[in-house]
Parts: sequence; C-alpha cells; structure tokens
Amino acid sequence: MNSVDQAIESRMSVRAFTKEPVSREIILNLLDLSARAPSGTNTQPWKAYVLEGEKLQQLCNLVCAAYDSIAQHPELEKEYQAGYDYYPTKWFSPYIDRRRENGWGLYGLLGITKGDKDKMHAQHRKNFEFFGAPVGIFFTIDKELGRGSMLDYGMFLQNFMIAARGKNLDTCPQAAWNTFSKIILPFIGAQDNEMLVCGMALGHADKEDIVNTFRTPRVSAQEFTTWIK
Ligand SMILES: Cc1cc2nc3c(=O)[nH]c(=O)nc-3n(C[C@H](O)[C@H](O)[C@H](O)COP(=O)(O)O)c2cc1C
Repeated sequence: MNSVDQAIESRMSVRAFTKEPVSREIILNLLDLSARAPSGTNTQPWKAYVLEGEKLQQLCNLVCAAYDSIAQHPELEKEYQAGYDYYPTKWFSPYIDRRRENGWGLYGLLGITKGDKDKMHAQHRKNFEFFGAPVGIFFTIDKELGRGSMLDYGMFLQNFMIAARGKNLDTCPQAAWNTFSKIILPFIGAQDNEMLVCGMALGHADKEDIVNTFRTPRVSAQEFTTWIK
C-alpha cells in the first residue's frame, strides 16, 4: 500500500485517548494541510476553535452537567438543539440497519445490552470529554452559506483526519456536541452568524482500551456502483 492509501485505511474513529500532548505547531500544521481542501470558488468556509488543558476541562464539565441533567429531567432536552439536521427525522432502510449494526456492534463489544440505560449514558457521555483526548476542536461555519459549503467542509475534515494519521495521531469526528451548541458557541466566543459543524477529538489512541478494537464494515464499490454502458 502507498502511504496515502495507508493513511486512509488506518483512519478510524478512536474513542479512548492517552494524555500524551499534541503541540500547537502540529495542530496548526494539520489545520493548514486541511485547508488545502477544495471548496466551491475557493470560499474556504472553515473556522476552528482549539481547546486544551483547563479550558477544555471547563467546557467538558459544563456539557457533561447539561447531558446528565437531561437524563434526570428529560423535559430539558427540548432546550438543546443542533444548528442543523445531521440525520433524517424519520429513519429508513438501508440506513437505519447500518446505524443499528454500528451502534449495537460498539455497545456489544463494551458489554452494553439493550435496556442498560446507565451504561449507555456513561458511554455516550464520553463524547463530552473528547474521549479523554488532550485536544478538542470545534468547527463552525457561517450560517448564511449554502449547502454546498458543507461538502467543502467534509473534505476539509477528512483532510484533517488523514493528515493526523500521517503524524501517527488519531481522531474522532463528533456530531454529538452539536446538541449543546447553546453552551459551546458562547464559550468559544463564536459570533452570531456561526453554526457548530462538529467537534473533533485529537490525540494518540489508547491501544489498551477495547473500544479501539472496534472496526466498521463498508458496502463494497461493486455493490454501490452502477456502470452505465
Ligand atoms: C461528521 C461525523 C460525526 C460523527 N459524530 C460522532 C459522535 O458524535 N460520536 C462518535 O462516537 N462517533 C461519531 N462519528 C463516527 C462515526 O460513527 C464513524 O465514522 C462510523 O461509525 C464509521 O467508523 P470509522 O470512523 O471508525 O471508520 C461521526 C462521524 C462523522 C463523519
């Protein structure tokens, strides 16, 4: 395999990190590389907020508290809303099947069974600690931009994750944070025109943690490709 293929193949969503720090120089380099992504008419719709140390911990504490309060008082859920719909409001096949396979595959590996709400809560809560990563990044976009800019953003984010592999670093893209943009956006000092696209955990994978042995399947190109001849 060449090094590009290897970086793509080795990227996975890592859900447990060591505390080993990542220097600002490396983070900036990763963001500069990411910004080589193409974007419609070179609009470059990305904006990044990097959290480390004390500030990262403060934000995690705030969001974890909000997440716990929803578990105690489910009526609070409506107070928190993502800036955009990442998923359909009504799921359907084959996507719902893949989603279930993914969710239960991960929970199965962790010994979490269907009715075990406390364990599910605890696992999902790890999102709001960036899975223990030393660096957490929030990405925002100008709300007024069109849907195409989200395509550009995806390419930027993929560049980030692949470039991280080139430096032996690992990532987890996280839409889970979006629900709590009401807390996050003022904390990071975003302007009114900004919308949270997602969070990203960055660091070194904890290779001892079983969660990082989870591998996800893909539908093969043979299956999703039609040759028009
Ligand atoms: C934009 C985006 C948001 C995601 N949000 C989360 C998240 O909030 N929490 C999480 O554990 N995984 C999240 N994931 C990871 C997906 O579950 C994962 O990419 C998928 O299951 C495929 O697995 P892989 O990344 O290991 O190849 C997200 C992925 C993407 C692309």
